[in-house]
Amino acid sequence: MKFKQSKHPFYILLLICIVIVGCIQSGKANQKKQKLQQEKSFTIEDQILAAEKNYKLLVNNARKANNIPRSLEKNAIKWIHNGFDWTEGFFPGSLWYIYELTNNEKWKKEALYFQELNFDDRFASSHDLGFVFQCSYGNSFRLTKAEQNKTALIDASNALIGRFNEAVGCIKSWDVDSGWQQQRGWQYPVIIDNMMNLELLFETSLLTGEDKYKDVAISHANTTLKKHFREDNSSYHVVDYDSITGVLRSKQTAQGHAHNSSWARGQAWGLYGFTVCYRYTKKPEYLTQAKKIADYILSNSTVAKENIPYWDYNAPNIPNEPKDVSAATITASALIELSQYADKKYLDKAKSIIETLSTDEYFAKPGTNGNFLLKHSVGSIPHGAEIDVPLNYADYYYLESLVRLRKL
Ligand code: GLY
Repeated sequence: MKFKQSKHPFYILLLICIVIVGCIQSGKANQKKQKLQQEKSFTIEDQILAAEKNYKLLVNNARKANNIPRSLEKNAIKWIHNGFDWTEGFFPGSLWYIYELTNNEKWKKEALYFQELNFDDRFASSHDLGFVFQCSYGNSFRLTKAEQNKTALIDASNALIGRFNEAVGCIKSWDVDSGWQQQRGWQYPVIIDNMMNLELLFETSLLTGEDKYKDVAISHANTTLKKHFREDNSSYHVVDYDSITGVLRSKQTAQGHAHNSSWARGQAWGLYGFTVCYRYTKKPEYLTQAKKIADYILSNSTVAKENIPYWDYNAPNIPNEPKDVSAATITASALIELSQYADKKYLDKAKSIIETLSTDEYFAKPGTNGNFLLKHSVGSIPHGAEIDVPLNYADYYYLESLVRLRKL
């Protein structure tokens, strides 16, 4: 009896140990399997192949239409080569990135064809000339060194600095004498997005040896740094100035949820813009600002957990609000560059964002989504425009991220 009592618990204990060890082993095996699956589900090379498949179909359609695709509207492609459109440089820019990623001359031919459609817009009266011409002709010049790109880049830069006002210290964003902007009572609105047009000016100073372009860019960045940011390092969308005295009139939004909310793409534009300003000037205040914006974005609970933000960090009905993939791709690309000047944590986050965007939830199968790469972006909710659709600029910054990641 004594013998039986002591032996019985021993066998039970042994059995428990075997079960625990077995569970641990099988847990480890599962983790390994999951990790292998994750690694398998995202490789840059696979994403390049997938991008080529989609864009081959999109280019075929664009050739037939002789036009530039921007988005999808009621399941049909929204074409934009019909006067100036701020997004018209992204499609040729994406084709330049696919060329860079594949080295296939076919993509270069297509990029040249579609950027040429925009050539006459280089004199447009718009703050967005930097988006249009840097993304297309700027990439073209970077990759081919072809002299003919210079005309487009220099003409566009001259038109862009023509919108600079010494008293304000910024390039003017929207004109206020027509359209919905006329209703807002603004005099000299400057939007955070405008930080993205400065890269063209820095490049044109390098191209021409003339400081006037970069001087405007630096003044614009300095004023934006002083006036656009809140205590928590989020930014207002629109800051309006008195066009004669340069005095600040109001801080508002146009595409965000509220004047005091953080429109997700606006935060991404600011992050990208100040990172670029640091690239060209090495001014520490720009790097500090870029890091502050990055930390603000990374501290958002949705970004921290799911990588892709809602369209506005303060949208009222989260989690029942649309996500904005365009904000995620711009953020990822900017974080990759920022990580080269700062903490590696920014690179880890960028990789994680791109990995999420490369899953079936966000990355479209060929023949769907109008053959754009990414689903689920937002143009402007307050304007009821482009909600939960593909956008050519979301694709552009995704491809730019692949280029940047592969270079690392
Ligand atoms: N720059 C316009 C936008 O981000 O919607």
